[in-house]
Amino acid sequence: MSDVGVWFVGARGNIATTAIVGARAIARGETSTTGMVTERPPCDALEFPAVGDLTFGGHDVRERSLREAAAELAATGGVPARETIDAVADDLDAIDERIVNGTALNCGPRVAELADHEPLETDRTVAAIVDRLREDYAAFCDSEGVDRLIVVNVASTEPELADPERYDGREALERAIDENDRELPASSLYAYAALVDGHPYANFTPSTGSTLGGLRELAAEAGVPHMGSDGKTGESLVKAALAPMFAGRNLRVRSWEGHNVLGNTDGRVLEDDRNKAGKLASKGGILDGILPDLEHNRVRIDYTPSLGDWKTAWDYVHFEGFLETEMTMQFTWEGSDSALAAPLTLDLARLLSFADERGEGGRQPQLASFFKAPDGVDEHDLSRQLDALSEYVADHAAEDPVEPTPEPATDD
Ligand SMILES: NC(=O)c1ccc[n+]([C@@H]2O[C@H](COP(=O)([O-])OP(=O)(O)OC[C@H]3O[C@@H](n4cnc5c(N)ncnc54)[C@H](O)[C@@H]3O)[C@@H](O)[C@H]2O)c1
Repeated sequence: MSDVGVWFVGARGNIATTAIVGARAIARGETSTTGMVTERPPCDALEFPAVGDLTFGGHDVRERSLREAAAELAATGGVPARETIDAVADDLDAIDERIVNGTALNCGPRVAELADHEPLETDRTVAAIVDRLREDYAAFCDSEGVDRLIVVNVASTEPELADPERYDGREALERAIDENDRELPASSLYAYAALVDGHPYANFTPSTGSTLGGLRELAAEAGVPHMGSDGKTGESLVKAALAPMFAGRNLRVRSWEGHNVLGNTDGRVLEDDRNKAGKLASKGGILDGILPDLEHNRVRIDYTPSLGDWKTAWDYVHFEGFLETEMTMQFTWEGSDSALAAPLTLDLARLLSFADERGEGGRQPQLASFFKAPDGVDEHDLSRQLDALSEYVADHAAEDPVEPTPEPATDD
């Protein structure tokens, strides 16, 4: 198995910081792998790179160190614990050296406020930004001895792209890059720079990422695995599990109100309606496929600074049963936003690495359960999505292990 690197776009953010602290704490025997899907059946039947062997790097537009990011998480939400951060502090310092400045093209004013550096687009054409991102990925692989790099987008949510169809083919997309089309979003530039050099890509955010038609074509042609969009971690996870129950019992859900309050930087960025639009669409879309008769489906997201990295969702479900009897169900979910999300980013990196090693390019429908808006998958029922993952694992568990590629012969 090759040396696998995980490149976080948004590497100084809460999810990336928690994932890095967690992975290094697992490596040092300081914590368990609870919360990681690849560490339990059925996935544990497959051979993945060990969590402790993953090498981390990334892009961000902020300057704060991983130690500072982790300390802020501990102070505002208690996760990770301070002792855990102390145990991996040297690792965090080493990884800090591998986080470089990125692009925030079309990420909106809220993200611009976060930036400590001049982002790459300040003095570069779009083609030059892409070249720089490719160089950054390559330099990391060279310096760290990484021969399989997985790029995972955990950057702030961007505003939605208008008319994404204009980038439907690879040719149209590459022409736009060459002609310095400054309407292209940063997430798709990171994705392009990854896929064009054969690096698998996961989009944990609702941003455009690799959903552009031109990027799908590129990934399919080049045989590179990729998948998105928007990690399914809290309220949306519960919705995907509960909605099929109402459908299966022919209980007619009339209204589903979901109100989310959170206090972290993600919440601050989502205060801007332009950044929020994509998140509302992916959260709301889960119910559309499962409950087609729903009369009223609303999601609200509000920023409540004092909550820190904790998110509370309150959902109110109004439904009708036999003899038109009106009934309701309510639930409250309170979760540590990053503790829920971080392990899934490590799972995605491992599963994409596995697919890449087997030459399985293009979108990865078996990963649908990880996402609110799984790219190319209409199935939103969580149990069916998990069945698809189990089937994938069963198919591969029966295979012979992949032979390592022989080293090329040298003269000496
Ligand atoms: N926490 C969850 O459960 C969850 C679930 C699904 C999706 N998400 C999404 O994951 C993303 C990350 O969440 P978070 O809580 O870590 O947010 P965060 O605000 O803590 O971190 C985001 C990081 O991205 C950086 N960034 C912003 N734009 C960038 C760019 N163009 N290039 C490089 N870096 C950039 C920011 O400086 C910040 O450090 C958000 O888009 C969020 O909506 C989170």
